[in-house]
Amino acid sequence: MRVIVTGATGFVGSNIAKVLTDRHGDDVVADRVDMTDRAAVAAHVRRAGADAVVHCAILNDWATMVADRRAAWSAYVDATRHYADAAAEVGIPMCLISTDWVFDGTQSGAAEDTPPNPINLYGFLKAASELVALERGASVARVMGVNGTHWARPATPRAQDPGFGYLVASLVDALEAGRPFTVWEGDDLNGIASPSLGSHCGEVVRAALVAGHGGGTHTDGAAIFHACGAEASTRRRLAEATVEVFGLDRELLRFGPAPREALAGLTIPYDTSVSAVATSERLGTPLLGLIELLQAFRRERETGEIGPPPP
Ligand SMILES: NC(=O)c1ccc[n+]([C@@H]2O[C@H](COP(=O)([O-])OP(=O)(O)OC[C@H]3O[C@@H](n4cnc5c(N)ncnc54)[C@H](OP(=O)(O)O)[C@@H]3O)[C@@H](O)[C@H]2O)c1
Repeated sequence: MRVIVTGATGFVGSNIAKVLTDRHGDDVVADRVDMTDRAAVAAHVRRAGADAVVHCAILNDWATMVADRRAAWSAYVDATRHYADAAAEVGIPMCLISTDWVFDGTQSGAAEDTPPNPINLYGFLKAASELVALERGASVARVMGVNGTHWARPATPRAQDPGFGYLVASLVDALEAGRPFTVWEGDDLNGIASPSLGSHCGEVVRAALVAGHGGGTHTDGAAIFHACGAEASTRRRLAEATVEVFGLDRELLRFGPAPREALAGLTIPYDTSVSAVATSERLGTPLLGLIELLQAFRRERETGEIGPPPP
């Protein structure tokens, strides 16, 4: 299979690209085309001779998004429309990568067909992008609390953020080097989520493409997938499980509030845990427990290889 992956130099995109190439022998087209340029996207998709598109790229800069709402809309909603239209024009499936932050933080255990109710700009832009993708026959894979290896950069872009992303790798890096690490806790953060592993997300996305899913709507959930583990977790439980699985020094683990600047006026959904049962049943992808996900990440980290897919 030949797949266009946008944002393949990013954290999630690098995991999807690595799963496609190293595990499945797929051919990944990772050229950086400005996703806000409709004509450039259309020409690229026409020329690429691809069998599918995974649209992963985003403008990942909160300050710019708030300061320039038009640029934010263009980089999320317009860019999704450009890729979904281009994929539809050449008749290939597309999967949009989305997020658990389309939910409002009180929709604990949300299923694939639970109507989103975003409470901040990012969640709103992703929910609007989902709708644009679904109504053009594309599928949506929501990834969340993504941990794992950044295969395109030496390190993750942030040590920790108000979501769950990057937490495990940053914690392991610190504790292995003998440095203490403070895990943020508080009601103003994303306190509960369904953590995932980047490479596992890649498996779910590939399975959705192979199954040729598309054509659902926001309400029937037919083309929406949840790419995450089976268990909801607090930040504390994820940190403690990480210490256990990686055999780290528990004494170096601290808990405390997030620095004010990390929250920067953001309204953050508290409990964004979801269910991935329907996804697993429809695609045949495994539902991994928290410990299994962390063990898989440990293997990746130690071998520098993505390894075989989980059973
Ligand atoms: N990380 C998480 O924990 C998490 C959680 C939930 C959902 N997600 C979703 O996963 C996806 C990827 O997120 P990420 O965290 O992996 O982001 P990331 O590491 O910041 O990567 C963003 C990617 O988008 C590319 N990009 C930015 N502007 C572009 C433009 N105008 N045209 C083309 N490419 C552009 C970047 O390329 P350059 O580096 O060349 O600028 C980079 O490859 C997003 O859809 C996000 O909503 C992520």
